[in-house]
Amino acid sequence: MDNFFIIDYFDWQPQRRSVVDRFVNRCLRKAGIPMQLASAAAFDALINRLRSRSGVASEPLAAIFSGSMTNVEQRMNMFHLIDQVLAYGVLGDVVELGCYQGRSAALFGRVMMGHKPQRKLHLYDSFAGLPGGDISDGNVFKAGGLCTSEEVVRANFRRYGLPEPVIHKGWFNETLPDALPERIAFAHLDGDFYESIKVSLEHVYPRLSCGAICLLDDYNDPAVNPGGWNLLPGVKKACDEFFLDKPEHVVPIYSGGYSHAFFRKF
Ligand SMILES: C[S@@+](CC[C@H](N)C(=O)[O-])C[C@H]1O[C@@H](n2cnc3c(N)ncnc32)[C@H](O)[C@@H]1O
Repeated sequence: MDNFFIIDYFDWQPQRRSVVDRFVNRCLRKAGIPMQLASAAAFDALINRLRSRSGVASEPLAAIFSGSMTNVEQRMNMFHLIDQVLAYGVLGDVVELGCYQGRSAALFGRVMMGHKPQRKLHLYDSFAGLPGGDISDGNVFKAGGLCTSEEVVRANFRRYGLPEPVIHKGWFNETLPDALPERIAFAHLDGDFYESIKVSLEHVYPRLSCGAICLLDDYNDPAVNPGGWNLLPGVKKACDEFFLDKPEHVVPIYSGGYSHAFFRKF
């Protein structure tokens, strides 16, 4: 299966915003001004030109962010990681803990369509947004943020002719104990916060088949990627604590301006 769909098919909210836009928009938001600048690459190009004229030697600004929830680099990684477990027949279903509107889930659903036998795609979300965070989660993302509905997910799947996923609505600590499939071939943990990742690992890990892959969104290791996106350090904290007594290791993988990592179950 080709993977060109990852750059347009699932990019439901492409962010044609430059680094300067993001800075200006943050200032506008703080000042309570309901406006959004979307100049795309124009400002960055201008700044890069001025910097090169003034002889300032530095990396050019990355002009454009390619997606909102995930970027192209992450989607490339997702494509290859899920594709390989399905191609090699690792036993079990596919799960995503923290699906929001179903964007990354749709990517998984699309890759699954290209493999036989069909597995089930299970999605878990509160559909009430994020829970309250731990001190390690910083204060950028707030309780109740990223609130959406199951219907939005279903509509997105219908829009692209994907088979309906099995949706489990509720807080992870309530749904996961009884509603995870017995065997899991591929898991995407995208619950953002320390407690959400901790409870996800506790329930998902024992069900992962040998050779299964678990992808950990927002995991950034500053020792490997000092400039990496590191706004949700609770994710790494939860993983590092969990893996202290496990044989597997978390492997950070290059993902452009965002961060994620994975481990393969022994
Ligand atoms: C970043 S979004 C997921 C984005 C999605 N995977 C994508 O890439 O399109 C995180 C989601 O996790 C959910 N979430 C976080 N912690 C949760 C918990 N403890 N129980 C249920 N849902 C949770 C939030 O409601 C939110 O929709």
